[in-house]
Amino acid sequence: MEFKISRKDSEKNNLYIIDDIKKLKELNALNKEEISYCEDLIKNEKNIITLNQYTHVVFVFYIKKADTDSQTHEGIRKAGALFQTSIQQNGLKEITIYNLSKTSEAAYLLAEGIALSNYQFLKYKKDAAQKAYSLKTISFDKNTLDKKQLLQLSATIEAVYHARDLVNEPLNFLTATQLAKEISKKGKEAGYTTKTLNKAQIIKEKMGGLLAVNLGSPEPPTFSILEYKPAKPFNKKPIVLVGKGVVYDTGGLSLKPTAASMDRMKSDMSGAAVVIATMYAVSKMQLPLHVIALVPATDNRPGQNAYVPGDIITMYSGTTVEVLNTDAEGRMILADALHWAKRYNPEMVMDFATLTGAAAVAVGNVGIVCMGNLDEKQKNNFKESGFRQYERLVEYPLWEEYGDMIKTDVADLKNIGGREGGAITAGKFLEHFTDYPWMHFDIAGVSFNTAKKHYTPVGGTGYGIRLLVDFLTHYSQQ
Ligand code: BES
Ligand code: ZN
Ligand code: ZN
Repeated sequence: MEFKISRKDSEKNNLYIIDDIKKLKELNALNKEEISYCEDLIKNEKNIITLNQYTHVVFVFYIKKADTDSQTHEGIRKAGALFQTSIQQNGLKEITIYNLSKTSEAAYLLAEGIALSNYQFLKYKKDAAQKAYSLKTISFDKNTLDKKQLLQLSATIEAVYHARDLVNEPLNFLTATQLAKEISKKGKEAGYTTKTLNKAQIIKEKMGGLLAVNLGSPEPPTFSILEYKPAKPFNKKPIVLVGKGVVYDTGGLSLKPTAASMDRMKSDMSGAAVVIATMYAVSKMQLPLHVIALVPATDNRPGQNAYVPGDIITMYSGTTVEVLNTDAEGRMILADALHWAKRYNPEMVMDFATLTGAAAVAVGNVGIVCMGNLDEKQKNNFKESGFRQYERLVEYPLWEEYGDMIKTDVADLKNIGGREGGAITAGKFLEHFTDYPWMHFDIAGVSFNTAKKHYTPVGGTGYGIRLLVDFLTHYSQQ
């Protein structure tokens, strides 16, 4: 999607945002009949209007105010999804947005909703060219957005598209090795560097968690280190991101039971996709922040050499872990990455992972379960970013009792708690491998859609990227 500023032109496909019915009269684009038609619709609560003027189409969007600003803003993004449908039905290549409302962010939000809805994954379709959506360019009247907002919008949309592509790619393309290649390719485009450890180097480092999960796979693991370091970063110590890169999760020997639970498991690298896409956006926007991302990657399969329940693994940190369920593999590979992060003396570490079904059960597909020891100020900033982007957070506690649930007689830790508090015992496991300000984000419920939902399509959603980019953008301005 291309975003640009363009000159006023009443012969184009223009979209007018209003929040006052009187503004309709100021639109030179509409004649009397059209104005009264719009007035009637708006009075009847229809606020998304398409007017066909033969050589072009005029759209009118009347903002409905909700209880809170963040709900109003999300309403605008969702309206974008409906406009995208209308734009596609009319086969339009370009639209220009004019904001005549008092909500200054409205054009940005509407464009975001339209662009996020306009995503398609057509790589494997023979008739991709015919299937492709028509819309290629969203333009703005010059007073609606400044250059910086335009860059932020395009970087964010590209980042989300990239993450969705990665999630939608199946294992027979996106192995751990291929994921590392994709990371490096995007880095060259965006401006971050990539260093990838191969299997021999991972063995040499003794990353026991990553290697254990990889034992059942015919494919080697990878450990990628992405770095963006601008000339004058705001932060002296780096911010480190960690993403779960399980390119496919069968459960291993603790094989996942039903079709429904394995069907979407190509999405088990969604955490990796979030941090990769965030690195892409941060580099494209040239945020004044030093950011490093770590992506441990492998598939989890029940091969001949696969790790078995009862195995005791010596992790990268030296901690021993009794594996009682090979399907609790995410925490095994994240633990090694979290230990690696200590070498940077990081300002803070955030990990993103499709870690537990328990998190999905708890909040469904409407939010992220988070936990950690960041100071209250930063936690609140995260929660505010969550509301701003409508990728909202629910914080869970890391009380010591949950730590007791992952104790075992034969090793330092076991890799599962009980049925109860499953999202938290997973977080508690990760906490063991940290010694810095840290926050864990369990995105199991939100990373993948089985049906289109407003501006997120079927498949990978990219949920979490806008949250993280928003947090980092505000952090760099503190
Ligand atoms: N990748 C899954 C978690 C998951 C479940 C993500 C559903 C997305 C949707 C993870 O590796 C897993 O299998 N977790 C187990 C942990 C359990 C064995 C302690 C789970 O949640 O059941
Ligand atoms: Zn699993
Ligand atoms: Zn998993």
